[in-house]
Amino acid sequence: SALSVASVLAGRIPLDEVVTLKGWVRTRRDSKAGFSFLAVSDGSCFDNVQIVAPNTLANYTTEVLQLTTGCAVACTGKLVRSQGKGQAIEMQADAVEVIGWVEHPDTYPVSPKQHTFEYLREVAHLRPRTNTFGAVTRVRHALAMAAHQFFHDNGFFWIHTPIVTASDAEGAGAMFRVSTLDIANLPKTGDGRIDFSKDFFGKPTFLTVSGQLNVETYCLALSKVYTFGPTFRAEQSFTPRHLAEFWMIEPEIAFADLSADADLAEAFLKHLFRSLLDSRQDDMKFFAERIDKDCITRLEKFVESSFERITYTDAVKLLEQSGRKFEFPVKWGLDLQAEHERYITEHIGRPVVVMNYPKDIKAFYMRLNDDEKTVAAMDVLAPGIGEIIGGSQREDRLDVLDQRLDAQHLDKNAYSWYRDLRRYGSVPHAGFGLGFERTIQYATGMANIRDVIPFPRSPGNADF
Ligand code: 4AD
Ligand code: MG
Repeated sequence: SALSVASVLAGRIPLDEVVTLKGWVRTRRDSKAGFSFLAVSDGSCFDNVQIVAPNTLANYTTEVLQLTTGCAVACTGKLVRSQGKGQAIEMQADAVEVIGWVEHPDTYPVSPKQHTFEYLREVAHLRPRTNTFGAVTRVRHALAMAAHQFFHDNGFFWIHTPIVTASDAEGAGAMFRVSTLDIANLPKTGDGRIDFSKDFFGKPTFLTVSGQLNVETYCLALSKVYTFGPTFRAEQSFTPRHLAEFWMIEPEIAFADLSADADLAEAFLKHLFRSLLDSRQDDMKFFAERIDKDCITRLEKFVESSFERITYTDAVKLLEQSGRKFEFPVKWGLDLQAEHERYITEHIGRPVVVMNYPKDIKAFYMRLNDDEKTVAAMDVLAPGIGEIIGGSQREDRLDVLDQRLDAQHLDKNAYSWYRDLRRYGSVPHAGFGLGFERTIQYATGMANIRDVIPFPRSPGNADF
């Protein structure tokens, strides 16, 4: 198999060795001195490798001079120290083999000119060829690996929770239905309702909104666990921070309260960003130069700061005393909006954990505090973007959980397996969910969440 451009440019291959590199042509430049310079990318790192192709190659006129952006090539030759500036190592090619031509180069959808991100979403199958999407993809991978590494090193087990479920984990009713029934000809019961007993699973089923309830069952057996998978929300949210399909990382720890949960969130986020800064210097330099000049300093500051913890009640006081005019009202009992969260982090100047929210605006599974007005919930707010983590200590008392299910008009029978955990060796436990795409946005400065996931799913868009 061919070597990667990354290993060559990192200097891991001895000079003067004859090697083969395979990739896609970014640009071709022909010099009068009898050479063509090809910039070739295989996506393994940010930089292209420069291939010097002499006009003595047998296919120089017939093929090399016909190469355009996007053509796939295999180049064989000696690695040498580069004379030109911009790269340390280049290849003097003895052979340039064309593996795949680009039909009609003038219609190649991702030519080297600058394209808008909106346009690139329409060619989502080819946008990974661009600098930005290559960089996003490598950063996404680096953060995913860092997450798994953190949990593995700290004794957590990765639990593969189901995608199809009958339970609404957030109790918010924002679920996509999964069904094999013929919608043009639905089976009906005697009283005219849809007969879901005829459906594939014998009952209504949905795409999961969160792996939390399932991962809690493993937490109360293996103590430290996490999920990392796709989750689905059928919310009509047309914002640059919402997707209908997004990935979430959800750790869950037993014998733990909200404070331990906040400790975990802080250690975890810092590990992610420290690891990214170390492993993807090339891509982060690109984001700092072209997308968001503050992204590297923001992460450096983040990993060095200690998180501030405040209660929801104090956060509301802070907002009320700010003298700011907000678009949305600030009042004890109302949820914090993005503008409020932004004010809080800017005012405090470092990541903030807001704790103990009013029970009526939070999910049924959060543990009721002694004041009986608030629950042991936390949101971690990152300077500049607001909520990236939502978490809580879970209600571990069956009688209180049942009251909360009733208060939110949820069917206790539908949660019977979840309630069982509170009947057989219940323990205090807590966890959180990190929105993976929001994390990538925060790290890179990419403004729109649709541009940090390979194939975005949002209202009206499920192409590719
Ligand atoms: O606050 P959320 O809804 O919490 C849960 O789902 C809990 N079950 C987590 C847990 O305690 N295990 O979502 C968690 C995070 C949010 O902070 C946000 O970063 C992200 O998921 N998120 C979304 N990201 C993209 N698009 C959406 N529609 C999102 N909704 C939530
Ligand atoms: Mg939330």
